[in-house]
Amino acid sequence: MDSLLERIYSTSADQMEEFGRHVMVGGGTPGPCLVKGKGVRVTDSNGKSYIDCTSQSWAMYLGYAHDEIRQVVNEQMSYFSHIHQGFHTMPRYSLAQKLASLAPKHLNRVSFTVGGGSAIEAAMKIAMKNKPEAKHFITLWDAYHGSTLTTAGASWTATQASGQFTGVKHFMHNINSNFIRVPNPYCYRCHFGHNPETCAQQCADMLRKTMEMGVNGPVAGVIIEPIQASGGQIPCPKSYLQKVREICDEFGALLIFDEIQTYCRIGEFYAADYYGVEPDIIVLGKALGAGFPIAAIIIHDRLQGFEMHAEELHTFANNSVSQVAALKQIEIIERDNILDNTRKMGAYIAESARAMSKRFEQIGDIRQIGLHIGLEMIEDADTKRPLSLEKAVQIRNVGLEKGIILGTGGYRKNLLKIKPPLVVKQEEVDELLNIFEATLEQVFHK
Ligand SMILES: Cc1ncc(COP(=O)(O)O)c(C=O)c1O
Repeated sequence: MDSLLERIYSTSADQMEEFGRHVMVGGGTPGPCLVKGKGVRVTDSNGKSYIDCTSQSWAMYLGYAHDEIRQVVNEQMSYFSHIHQGFHTMPRYSLAQKLASLAPKHLNRVSFTVGGGSAIEAAMKIAMKNKPEAKHFITLWDAYHGSTLTTAGASWTATQASGQFTGVKHFMHNINSNFIRVPNPYCYRCHFGHNPETCAQQCADMLRKTMEMGVNGPVAGVIIEPIQASGGQIPCPKSYLQKVREICDEFGALLIFDEIQTYCRIGEFYAADYYGVEPDIIVLGKALGAGFPIAAIIIHDRLQGFEMHAEELHTFANNSVSQVAALKQIEIIERDNILDNTRKMGAYIAESARAMSKRFEQIGDIRQIGLHIGLEMIEDADTKRPLSLEKAVQIRNVGLEKGIILGTGGYRKNLLKIKPPLVVKQEEVDELLNIFEATLEQVFHK
């Protein structure tokens, strides 16, 4: 008798089509059926192999099928996998201790949950608990904090930024409307026509003015991705985040860093350290569990945390398998100097993209910190008009044909994201860059 995996992995093309009718896919970029991966490469059901520049929703730092993650997960499975959050476990003690030890000095208490959206909501609960009279939150233009009924309200997907409302429009009557959005320091296309330095100052001024004049009552928290991801790979300048910290202190609002995409990917464990700004709460998710679902919030010592009154209760908030995977990943990152590799490979990709931009004026802006890399594509250098959606889709499709999975995004859909697993090697980077260049060649020069 074949094993279960042998049976499901021999599903025929006809069956795939038939079974597919039972699957609802709520979003994301469409792709082939993937069957097996190793390192940075993954193979589809037709046997075609790709270098993955998306790390599957940017969520796998050690790549596919990492042997040591598999081993630690197998080992933990022989103890148990899931434990109700009311019981303590050794994996949870250890992961909380480790994340706190790496975090900025005063951020020391950790709560776990299952996904990024619910972790952002947990951070909002902490803010509301500590600012009981405040119900509003401030987020940035182009922010993305999730697709739950609360976090969608904080995100660009609920706005007309893309020229039309996204599918979130169906839920608009019930999404959280207590978010006020302020301009983001998008220096490549400064909303106020400034240069990068004054752009950051202008955006900080807008935040201060909004706190003063644009919100009814006090603000509970300001939620910021230090480097915006989904909205367009837009890094906040350091001076901006430093000013935001001062403004939050001045108005008594908590500063919440959504580090769900930046954790490790920028070549530092925490963006707070990269920027030299200590927020009140840090939220982690995505790759935290090396491909297993887990998210975390880490809060400042002076804050009142969650207590045992059903304040923050999730069936799978204490998953030992995800926790040991997260711990093992940190151990490997530290042991193998993976943050160093992240910084080096990221800088190399950016330098190569800069060289390519001399041949392809469509590469308008290269925004890179570590392996958090976005290329903003344009029609031409004079107008900086965003590249059309058709062309962006064509680049992705030609890339797929040639063997790379590129990320696309930004609310204008003209962003190409090159965010491979952090273990990507020099020769793999060279290979993916060659394929990328051949892709641009085919799309723009033929
Ligand atoms: C910065 C950021 N915050 C929050 C989220 C939401 O996380 P999840 O999809 O795990 O709910 C995402 C997901 O893309 C994200 O990129």
